[in-house]
Amino acid sequence: MHETLLTAEPDSSAESLLPPDMLDFLACRTPDAWIAWALDNPELLLIDHAQCEKKAASTAMSLLYRYVDQPLLLSKMSQLAREELLHFEQVVKLMENRGIQYRHLSAARYAEGLRRHVRAKDPERLVDILIIGAFIEARSCERFARLIPHLDAELAKFYRSLVKSEGRHYEDYLMLARQQAPAAIDDRVAFFAEREAELIVTPDTAFRFHSGVPA
Ligand SMILES: [Fe+2]
Ligand SMILES: [Fe+2]
Repeated sequence: MHETLLTAEPDSSAESLLPPDMLDFLACRTPDAWIAWALDNPELLLIDHAQCEKKAASTAMSLLYRYVDQPLLLSKMSQLAREELLHFEQVVKLMENRGIQYRHLSAARYAEGLRRHVRAKDPERLVDILIIGAFIEARSCERFARLIPHLDAELAKFYRSLVKSEGRHYEDYLMLARQQAPAAIDDRVAFFAEREAELIVTPDTAFRFHSGVPA
């Protein structure tokens, strides 16, 4: 698939695809070193992307089971799970068309690096999970946008559509977190923004969609 990757268009337009407040929400931009790492690993990028879509659906499903008394959360998470599974199908199809074999990959340190800070009891637990959901969606959205100028036309078109839906997911998670919290959630958002940025800018051992930079 290497030969289908195009390079070297300036990506000044990429960030204009993102919701205006998203770049303030994220404490750092994806380092250029990660973009180069991704372009060197086009197969891993798609395989791990498929994994991420599946996990996103699964996280939403687990909230559907646990918080049955919250109608807005149920409708948003049900819709989100369906969309993530549709994205999963789209990535798998794209991999098939490109002759990329789907295989198991070890998990990135990213999601676990955020979830280890989740507080034990509700409503704090749910607030933290929703805030983390917002960060994962926002970072995915930012990375799709940053990759677009370097990709072939088919993948660029697909990632443009994902920027829109993951952007909506980010907004939904953040709205649900604010709706849950008896007090303002700004301190908690700031806390996770720092943790998230550390995971993005520090060296990582394996390339993944949410990995840090090459060690
Ligand atoms: Fe998705
Ligand atoms: Fe999403």
